[in-house]
Parts: sequence; C-alpha cells; structure tokens
Amino acid sequence: MVRIRIASLKDLPDKRPVPATAGTKALVIVRDGDRVYVADGICAHGRWLLSLGTYEGGKLTCKGHGTVYDMETGEGDLKGYRYRIRVYRPVIQDGEVYIEV
Ligand code: FES
Repeated sequence: MVRIRIASLKDLPDKRPVPATAGTKALVIVRDGDRVYVADGICAHGRWLLSLGTYEGGKLTCKGHGTVYDMETGEGDLKGYRYRIRVYRPVIQDGEVYIEV
C-alpha cells in the first residue's frame, strides 16, 4: 500500500468540494469541521467533476444531473437509480491529508 499526499488541511475550505489528484486519479475532497471526506472525483452517472457539486450534511450533489452521493459510503442516488463512487479513508498527519492506495 502506498501513501499519497493529496492536500493540506489549511487549504480546504469548510463544506466546499475541492478537486485533487493522486497520480492520474481525479479526487474530490470535502472538509466538514473535523471530518475530511475523500472520494473519486468523477461522477459515476455522466462523468462530471464532483468538485463542481454542492455539499451539505455528509452528502455531495453532482452539478451534472443531481446524483446525491453519501460521502461516507460512496452510494449515489438519482431519482431511484443507484450509482457508486469509491471513497477513501484519509489519514491526517501534521496538517497534511493522505490516502493509501
Ligand atoms: S453527471 Fe453527475 S449526475 Fe449526471
């Protein structure tokens, strides 16, 4: 398993999705208070960047067509149709955010 640094905590605005990368992989990061969520950055429905979406209460809504993703599980719902994105458990160390892949 490889640990990859993807962001600094100080650069993450509260409750606003931001794009990141790990190698060539697009990610989205959302900080919500002390929580940091990391997930695949591309919507499983129609390939929009999830960092363009909106976040509220643990859910990220894709700007494309409105799929709502649970940032804890990666489960997405679009009017009853199910989609899934991969979520990562970030490691926070010395103010830096890492994922292990
Ligand atoms: S591209 Fe995300 S909901 Fe369609």
